[in-house]
Amino acid sequence: MKEKINIRYDDKHQTFHLSNRKFSYIMELRESTWLLHRYWGPKLSAYYGSNQPAAVKRTFAAALIPEIPAFSLEMEPQEFSCPHQGDYREPSITLRREDGCLAGRMQYKSHEITDTLHVPTGLPHIRPQEGKSVKTLSIHFLDVVSSIQLTLHYSILEDSAAIIRSAQITNLGNSPIWVERALSALIDTIYSQEQLVTFYGTHQKEFQLSRQDISHGRFSIGSVRGASSPQYPPFAALCTPETTEHTGDVRAFQLIYSGNHHVSAERDQYNHLRIAIGIQPDGFCWKLLPGESFHTPQAVLTYSSQGFNGMSQEFHKLFSEHLFPPQWSKRKRPILLNSWEMCYFDVSEEKILRVIQEAAELGFELVVLDDGWFGHRSNSKSSLGDWTVNPEKFPNGLMPLLKYAKEKGIQFGIWFEPEMISIDSALMRTHPDWCAQIPGYTPLLGRNQLVLDLTRQEIQDYLLEMLTNFLKAYPISYVKWDMNRHITDPGSQDLPQDRTGEFFHRYILGLYRILEELTARFPDVLFENCSSGGGRFDAGMSFYMPQTWCSDNTDALDRQAIQYGASYLFPPSAITAHVSAVPNHQTGRQIPFAARAAVSSAFNMGYELNILELSSEDRGQILTHLAEYKAEQEFLFHGEFYRLHSPFTGNDCAWMVANIEKTRAIVYFFVREYDTATLSYLLKIPYLNPEKNYVVKNTRQHFSGKELICAGLAIQPVQGDYPIVKLELNAEDTAL
Ligand code: GLA
Repeated sequence: MKEKINIRYDDKHQTFHLSNRKFSYIMELRESTWLLHRYWGPKLSAYYGSNQPAAVKRTFAAALIPEIPAFSLEMEPQEFSCPHQGDYREPSITLRREDGCLAGRMQYKSHEITDTLHVPTGLPHIRPQEGKSVKTLSIHFLDVVSSIQLTLHYSILEDSAAIIRSAQITNLGNSPIWVERALSALIDTIYSQEQLVTFYGTHQKEFQLSRQDISHGRFSIGSVRGASSPQYPPFAALCTPETTEHTGDVRAFQLIYSGNHHVSAERDQYNHLRIAIGIQPDGFCWKLLPGESFHTPQAVLTYSSQGFNGMSQEFHKLFSEHLFPPQWSKRKRPILLNSWEMCYFDVSEEKILRVIQEAAELGFELVVLDDGWFGHRSNSKSSLGDWTVNPEKFPNGLMPLLKYAKEKGIQFGIWFEPEMISIDSALMRTHPDWCAQIPGYTPLLGRNQLVLDLTRQEIQDYLLEMLTNFLKAYPISYVKWDMNRHITDPGSQDLPQDRTGEFFHRYILGLYRILEELTARFPDVLFENCSSGGGRFDAGMSFYMPQTWCSDNTDALDRQAIQYGASYLFPPSAITAHVSAVPNHQTGRQIPFAARAAVSSAFNMGYELNILELSSEDRGQILTHLAEYKAEQEFLFHGEFYRLHSPFTGNDCAWMVANIEKTRAIVYFFVREYDTATLSYLLKIPYLNPEKNYVVKNTRQHFSGKELICAGLAIQPVQGDYPIVKLELNAEDTAL
């Protein structure tokens, strides 16, 4: 039987060839010493070096072998790069010895190929799946002078275009070394035309797409905020200028990490392009004792020949099957109603009981009590850290709410912001030293709060115990885990002088430890990730929490772009989207209900508006929408999501969900403004089956799949503000 995945080492040509039916990735071991990048693209059955230019001797280029002056790492495409070996581009590792000198002259030592997935210790990672083959190539390099080993891990899976890369640095010597930079993946290519796609954003405006030419020099994005951040998620993609959503080559990189990260693209004088991704080197320095290893987070690299939708399909499938907590990957999510935009901090037993009653009547499946329920919290200035029920607002505790929800047949969820501490809190009064701080400086407030020092095991243990006791005491089905500020004072009283550069990474490792244990203790609690919306929406958090509140902006126009952008990286099941009130609380826009409902519906849909004061018209609309959504939810949740028209480039936005067989598709088409000069829109729907005929559900029009793909569907402009068109297409067996 033909192997579904393959990692081959060809001794004669000294090449490593990783492949499955979707791609080949080829490296060469030059002079049995240096690892060079040779190819990454569609599957090749064999490779004999056809794309290798002849080496040219250049002035200023350092020669590794005096007899071969034309061979210099300055010009060679590499898989990792260490400083001081003649490669003057961005390095992937920087190691310093105890004597202060730079180390890291790495030379190939050995490799092994295993049938397992490599898992970096203490970090979220791609998980194997039962019955599916995986393979890992681990290549070891040695700096014999300084006794340091570098291992590069490459894991591949059956049926996925992804390559999972990480690096491991091991101190084999007798004295400590300092790891000042340890990126997860680096690739050099000698293509000259590729463009770079990244995302930028801020609070309430996450996942804004940027596509640019890469000119000479170094361009980088990243975070030094202690969180992956809404500013720049840890993602980058290279594409050709011709690449579209539907066609063309894409090579994408995503880091499974939630802390400070770094992504860079560098074009050098020879037009060679280097792309690197990993932990942010600024402010990072890790002391590695003899015998210890440092593991970098995993970087997921994926190749698509079918444009950005092809890339997203790879990420969506990989994350759904191999990243999210397995018990949640196929499990239907409850339709929730969140109290935040309905009550803000003004929650009480009386109010939430009424909310539960009304929510159950309307057809919601989960009521979430957001901020405001604990300590003496009535605004953002107090009580973070005091996770006991506010006795004035909830004189009988939470049990009456849980009991009532149960009686009404719906679930109950709650909001926490465990990593934070308010100055006005009992926790702060008891443990004033528990917040992150640098001796001598008063720690700075952000949203009126300080950050707990999660590098300390004592604080991790405290949080674990507090949350465990809480979830044991109350039969809660859902927890929203929030994190509403970034870190300004990266210091811990536990970190000695020579380890202060470990703060940010240790913080994230501490957080991961808490999440790992907590989610294992409560596998049936649905955890939703949040950081003022999508402030820490990354593959690392998604390992523990299968869904994320992707923006505090619930405006249905702004959300089109935010969700469209987020869908590059994550499947819609992971992106929560709530129908909210008008005028919208963030923008004041008055977007009709139909558009608000439609924008949320292809994603992980919920509501966040005052259901206690609904007009009968609103009530009717909600009832109709929830009934329609429930009928479609299964299909939407398991379907494949495709972007059709980008809100970043035009007046309209469109996406669709289709089942795998392409016998059913729901298409959403959103228009920003009615334009009198637009007589008709044209929507091409490339993801249908060209062999099938389709009927449009509402209009009963019949079309062939091929004509919808090639000629497109004319859509008549609808008057009014923010019109939407929703179409359902069903394949039919009868000929046209
Ligand atoms: C953040 C979240 C909101 C809400 C508030 C509560 O901003 O993103 O959804 O939970 O905190 O303070």
